[in-house]
Amino acid sequence: MSMPFIPVASPLKQYQSRKHAIDEAVEKVLYSGRYILGEEVACFEREFADFIGTRHCVTVANGTEALCLALLACGVCPGDEVITVSHTAVATVAAIELAGAMPVFIDIDPCSRCMDHSLIERVISSRTRAILPVHIYGQPARMHEICEIARKNGLTVVEDCAQACGARTSNRKVGTFGHAAAFSFYPTKNLGAIGDGGCVVTDSPEVSEKLRALREYGWKERYISSEQGMNSRMDEIQAAILRVKLPFLDEDNVRRRAIAERYSQAVDNLSIIPPYPVPDTDHAMHLYVIECSERPSLQDFLKERGIGTALHYPRAVHQQGAYEGRIRGSESLPATEELYERILSLPMYPELSDTEVEKICAALADWCSSR
Ligand SMILES: Cc1ncc(COP(=O)(O)O)c(C=O)c1O
Repeated sequence: MSMPFIPVASPLKQYQSRKHAIDEAVEKVLYSGRYILGEEVACFEREFADFIGTRHCVTVANGTEALCLALLACGVCPGDEVITVSHTAVATVAAIELAGAMPVFIDIDPCSRCMDHSLIERVISSRTRAILPVHIYGQPARMHEICEIARKNGLTVVEDCAQACGARTSNRKVGTFGHAAAFSFYPTKNLGAIGDGGCVVTDSPEVSEKLRALREYGWKERYISSEQGMNSRMDEIQAAILRVKLPFLDEDNVRRRAIAERYSQAVDNLSIIPPYPVPDTDHAMHLYVIECSERPSLQDFLKERGIGTALHYPRAVHQQGAYEGRIRGSESLPATEELYERILSLPMYPELSDTEVEKICAALADWCSSR
């Protein structure tokens, strides 16, 4: 019997692997009668802050709002500039604009595919207020260097950790370097809810308090808005599910890295370039992204063998209609543009069986040897 098609991600398999505990946790919430911002949310916030290594965690409705609210809570104002990358999910840039600020793009380092910190000071202007590095695919950005540049120039750092839950650099988890950091719990993420969810972590009691007000209409006292806010609350069911999954996250990430290692051995050939192993970092391996100049042919070949692939992303943000021609810095992103011609994501989730991993490795090796 042939093996079923292997998708790039499988939130269903993750549910099935912890079904009993998740069903029990959901049922407990259903019978509790409290569905929004209750005990599950409070416990998850404590547990997640401990896991990352920050003093505070404030849950919100999704990762995009986590970024937007983190910027606002750190004092970013309408018209301020925020330096970031175009090689990211559109959400990063949408969040900056949602906060009323203006994104400014700099290029990436082609090895890590994260922000090239040596370009930051070239774009700093009198309007620059913050730097927003993205730990893309789970690869930590160069946080020590970025934070030092921010310190020297009086800027705030907000980390986009949406794809890097549990990743480390210099033995510290990402999310502990900036003034605040945003996470997404979208179902396919390393720590995924069964619906939307997100959070902001910070060491600052002021930022944490401001976030708690902003996520609920600016309330400090119930029904009394002391400032403008919005509704960005996490529900109890999602928090209960995340509490079931969090204790397994480190071991899930170890499994992801082991799968990545097998793939990288199989593609040890010039026609496919595996992700570059950046020293002193534990990659969260949210996505395993190769580079291949014959991408359409490889995609077809893998599809015929029952293996899914995807593009993260089909276009850089500055190449998409909503942003084209209007973001400062877009005219000089050669490394970003070159990368987009070649990237391809392979299946990556901890529930992939050894047999599936070997099938993918065999297909990659066959394609390489046919070149
Ligand atoms: C890099 C990055 N930033 C932000 C987000 C936004 O997260 P969400 O989908 O939970 O709004 C995502 C998720 O898609 C992401 O990959």
